[in-house]
Amino acid sequence: MDLKNTSPFFFFALLISVTKALDPSCASQSDGSDDLSIIPTYSKCSPFSSPKTDSLVTIVLNMASKDPTRVNYLSTPVPQKTTSASIASGQQVLNIANYVVQLKLGTPSQLMNIVLDTSNDIAWAPCSGCTGCSSTTFSPNSSSTYGSLECSVSECAQARGLSCPATGSTATLVQDVLRLGKDVIPKYSFGCINSISGGSIPSQGLLGLGRGSMSLKLGPPGQPKLIRTTPLLRNPRRRSLYYVNLTGISVGRVLVPISPELLAFNPNTEAGTIINLGTIITRFVPPVYTALRDEFRKQVKGTFSSLGAFDTCFSATNEVVAPTITLQFTGLKLTLSSENSLIHSSSGSLACLAMTVAPNNVNSVLNVIANLQQQNLRILFDVANSVVGIARESCN
Ligand SMILES: *[C@@H]1O[C@H](CO)[C@@H](O)[C@H](O)[C@H]1NC(C)=O
Ligand SMILES: *[C@@H]1O[C@H](CO)[C@@H](O)[C@H](O)[C@H]1NC(C)=O
Repeated sequence: MDLKNTSPFFFFALLISVTKALDPSCASQSDGSDDLSIIPTYSKCSPFSSPKTDSLVTIVLNMASKDPTRVNYLSTPVPQKTTSASIASGQQVLNIANYVVQLKLGTPSQLMNIVLDTSNDIAWAPCSGCTGCSSTTFSPNSSSTYGSLECSVSECAQARGLSCPATGSTATLVQDVLRLGKDVIPKYSFGCINSISGGSIPSQGLLGLGRGSMSLKLGPPGQPKLIRTTPLLRNPRRRSLYYVNLTGISVGRVLVPISPELLAFNPNTEAGTIINLGTIITRFVPPVYTALRDEFRKQVKGTFSSLGAFDTCFSATNEVVAPTITLQFTGLKLTLSSENSLIHSSSGSLACLAMTVAPNNVNSVLNVIANLQQQNLRILFDVANSVVGIARESCN
């Protein structure tokens, strides 16, 4: 029962289309491509959306309302020995259902819509008879390939919070065939949820694409070979997180003056920069954000107002002078397109710098590159080679 046999692949790519939220057709939702199609949970194309249609900025601000709690959780130092930390202390913040993916479990396949997260390693599927699960449940009894796992296997120890065998507990560790796009993982280990209470996991279940050993890794076929990459940094206390080395930020041609220690990676304090899917708006620690924003305002000129989490909104007629923002990572410069750096008010009259400040508290040391800045980019996590590749790619 070696996990390496059950997860033979070490790559996956995320293609996020927040703007699909406004796509009236939703047709491209399951286009049979190799990649994961990721759907914002509360968008029109999601099976969990409400019938009313909100503007993109409203969807984004609603989705981002849990960002501060989330970022606090991600930047809270984890004591080295507390192995239960990633589930236990993360209980409220795990229940943040920003994106869903369609996947198939069992034989014959049962179609499930499950919440996606890159800061968790474990998949949890709502199973038949589950109390508190909101959506379609997986029926193990109807699958010929279903199997339970012995308590002694290593996955059990890693899947903190699961019990083996089930003793009326929250979830049991099981195995079955997982199909995701064109990837087939024959014996995928996941938690079969029997009951959900206290908001420990989203009621739709959770697909963990974190960096840890329990996490699902998808295959290399179809991935671009010449993508530019930056090394992933390892934080032994936060194995699930994708840390990168952000070395500087440019606004237009100006390199924003930021002292290097504000960006430096430090596994002891959790300081540094992560690429994260569970957070909507990119957040920088206060001095970094202030420096970036001030330079941006200086170049745009005019007057600025706030809209929700965004504090630098200006007349959209002035958008032509808005400078580009370039994130400089070791070995990789990412110049954000305007859709990755600006967001418009519902009426379209205002454009806002689509980034904000990290919650200002004692643990405010972590910069989070979030969803809005990942739209229409291919983000290739190559865990085996410990690099992340980023390339522009339209998935609208
Ligand atoms: C699945 O099958 C087992 C054994 O036959 C049975 O005890 C159990 O009630 C079934 N579960 C469901 C949800 O049908
Ligand atoms: C990040 O990049 C800076 C500047 O090149 C370098 O000095 C530093 O060692 C790098 N940090 C890590 C953890 O690789």
